[in-house]
Amino acid sequence: MNSSRPFLHPDAGSPLACDGVRLDTLAKKYGTPLYVYSANQILERLRLFTQAFQPVPHLVCYAVKANSSLAILKLLAKHGAGFDIVSGGELERVLRVSQEAAERVVFSGVGKTAPEMDLALRSGILLFNVESAGELELLAERASKLRIRARVSLRVNPDVFAETHPYISTGLREHKFGIDIREARKVYKSAARQKYLEPYGVSVHIGSQIRSADPFGAAAERIARLVQELRADGLSIRVVDVGGGLGIEYHREHSFDPEQKVRQYASALLKALRPLKELQLLLEPGRFIVAQAGALLTRVLYVKKNGKKTFVITDAAMNDLIRPALYQAHHEIIPVVPRKGARKRTVDVVGPVCETGDFFARDRSMPELQPGDLAAILDAGAYGLSLSSNYNSRPRPAEVLVEGTRHRLIRKRETIDDLLAAEMP
Ligand code: LLP
Repeated sequence: MNSSRPFLHPDAGSPLACDGVRLDTLAKKYGTPLYVYSANQILERLRLFTQAFQPVPHLVCYAVKANSSLAILKLLAKHGAGFDIVSGGELERVLRVSQEAAERVVFSGVGKTAPEMDLALRSGILLFNVESAGELELLAERASKLRIRARVSLRVNPDVFAETHPYISTGLREHKFGIDIREARKVYKSAARQKYLEPYGVSVHIGSQIRSADPFGAAAERIARLVQELRADGLSIRVVDVGGGLGIEYHREHSFDPEQKVRQYASALLKALRPLKELQLLLEPGRFIVAQAGALLTRVLYVKKNGKKTFVITDAAMNDLIRPALYQAHHEIIPVVPRKGARKRTVDVVGPVCETGDFFARDRSMPELQPGDLAAILDAGAYGLSLSSNYNSRPRPAEVLVEGTRHRLIRKRETIDDLLAAEMP
């Protein structure tokens, strides 16, 4: 079993498997499109963080938005993870799998509502990552109404450039996220005057799919200076939440050593935060934990030619996995059953949705696929199902969790009745 790549052909010529389970077996049993996840890989990635940050007190708060399936949250909760949530709905999910995990929850997001704050206060979460002065005011009001003290951290915007897709970069002054780092001291002082608010930490999150450790180090340096100033102001700042954002490698031909990546990330952060004593570090990785643990299994419906182009039409579509359409993201696509001597063809792999943007690959040279063949779209465990929709009235796929050589359904395929249940004709 290869911990860095759970989706492999066990040997040349045999069908693609997820750990010890063949994907053609899963397709037969559960149908397609189907999300398949490796539990081993998820736990292995969690372990890489725990190991790399072992020199300091820390807590990994998995970013629920990356993949919020209950079985995955339960698996992570059981292994001690905390959670980064951005809505009341995500908190409900965490509570559904583990009541005691509430004390390991941090609540991020720019638009928290009063009912969401109330739920979080009553559940006794660890920390509110507050993103504006207005939000701080509302939180103070809700906390004093409920007579529950809220531990707060301001999410500061460090004005650090992180090289990634513009839609998932968040750490510049021009973005909607966080509070300008130059304003932070003033806002902390106003928080300290509130009886039911406890200034407890400083948070930052500069974006997602960031592959170099440098921007994380640069942001952490700015945070470290702020913590020192706040402590000099008399505030007892106990935690620094460094957010998530560590990127993975989506291209198979590029080498990728996840253990080394996390080590480099840890060393950039720990170096920048070294001047701070008595500090707990919070981490919010999402993608790095689940992306490579998951694949979207799909069946080829048709192959057609239009002019010079060949289109492979699959039963999965952009509503199931929107990343290529939304971010021009690259996902490897592998035939599940290799065909002996198969030629390579340059094709577009597309779904049945009525949008030109409904594609998984464009002008990709890959082994020939024929109608009825199965293909796996790799690295789809993060922001796959969690970003899916019912566009074109397509029921969402089922999900299966592979645990070594066993597999189990963790979400049923949606039915048309599920889709229509809330409607009143
Ligand atoms: N913490 C906060 C406050 C966040 O906003 C995010 C992601 C994370 C943690 C986790 O980031 P990660 O470790 O997964 O990079 N849908 C996009 C990614 C959006 C990320 C949004 N925020 C994609 O598919 O690439």
